[in-house]
This record gives sequence, structure tokens and C-alpha cells, in this order.
Amino acid sequence: MSPTLLAIVAVIQPGLWLLWRLAENDLGADPVATLTHQTGQWGLRFLLLSLAATPLRKLSGWNWPVRIRRILGLAAFGYALLHFSIFLVFDHFFDWNEILKDILKRPYITIGFITWIMMIPLAITSSQYMMKQMGGSRWKVLHKLNYLIGITGVFHYFWSVKRDITLPTFYAILLALLLGLRLTGRRPLR
Ligand code: HEM
Repeated sequence: MSPTLLAIVAVIQPGLWLLWRLAENDLGADPVATLTHQTGQWGLRFLLLSLAATPLRKLSGWNWPVRIRRILGLAAFGYALLHFSIFLVFDHFFDWNEILKDILKRPYITIGFITWIMMIPLAITSSQYMMKQMGGSRWKVLHKLNYLIGITGVFHYFWSVKRDITLPTFYAILLALLLGLRLTGRRPLR
């Protein structure tokens, strides 16, 4: 199986697993909270994995991490979209006033929303066709937004947790390492 196909199969697994548990009525006492948390977690995991592709290529010399980077980025956007949709539909049922109030008044929602908005242009321009249309160097500059998305995504996670900050701290350290690795070496990484 090619790395690309394997990556596609891998990124849809968590979604299928969640659907399965939903169908089996096995999402715990608060299914909406479980769906929100799981989709948020997977969004962030795939985002960090996409940021790991270039450093991994640099350290290992393998090419496949960079070949699956777009799939990982699109998966991050897909899970973030699901995460946001659950908030729109199940938390507020399209009550736009309440949604706007939440986005403006609750800092962790504000930063989550900003993170998601920043992901949109990257998802739209992720194809080879769009890369050609934009020109490689403009495309690269735009896609540097991924670093900021990683930072605001981890902040959103920090702010959303009430007590145990072990996992957000782990993600923050991982992100710092991934961003730090980009600053090292002779050749600038994209
Ligand atoms: C569109 C705007 C967004 C909204 C409205 C939103 C909303 C939420 C809500 C309501 C929670 C649950 C907080 C709680 O337990 O009380 C949450 C948690 C979380 N969100 Fe978001 N979010 C957004 C964007 C994002 C994005 C773009 C990412 C990452 C790519 C993300 C990742 C997470 C993570 C990792 C958690 C914690 C999950 C856990 O505790 O297991 N969110 N978000």
C-alpha cells in the first residue's frame, strides 16, 4: 500500500470509530462532550503530525512524511470542522446570537475560532493546482500560518481544560520541539 493511501485510511479511522461508538450508544454519559473532546483532540493531533513531517524528513532522509503532509493537514481541518459543527449544532443549535456571544466572551472559544478560521485558507489552497496558481513562494509564505495555528490550537486546549494540564503541556512541548527543529540546520525548512 502506498504511504498516501495508508495515511488516508489512518486519518479516517478515528472518525469511523467515533461513528461506531455513536451508533452503539457508547459515548458515555455526555455524548456531545465526548464528541467535542475527541474531535478536538484528533484535530490537534493531526495538526502536530503535519508539522512533524518536515523535521522528520530532515532527520531521517525519508521522503514519505512530506508526501502525506497534505493529508494530515486536511485531516486536522476536517476534525476541527466536525468539532466546530458539534458546537454549532449540539451546544447552540444554530442560535447565532449565543454562538457570537460565546465566541466574543469566552477567551478559549475566541482562540479556537481564530484557529479554525486560519485553517480555512490553508485547506482551500492545499492542492497542487492551487500551489501552481499562487506560485511556490507565495504559497509557502501563506502556509507558514501553520505554525501560528499550532500555537493558537495548543493555547485553545490549555484554556479549555479545567484541571489536569498534563496533556496540553505535552502537546506544547512537542510543538516547541517541532518549531525549534525548524530553526536549526543549514537549510531553512518550509
Ligand atoms: C471553531 C472554533 C472552536 C470552537 C467553538 C471550539 C470549542 C471547544 C469546546 C466547547 C471544547 C470543550 C471544552 C470543555 O470541555 O469545556 C473544546 C475543546 C478542545 N478543542 Fe476546540 N473549539 C474550536 C476550535 C478548535 C480547533 C481549531 C482545534 C484544534 C485544531 C481545537 C482543539 C480542541 C482540543 C484539543 C480540545 C480539548 C479536548 C479535550 O479536553 O479532550 N478546537 N473546543
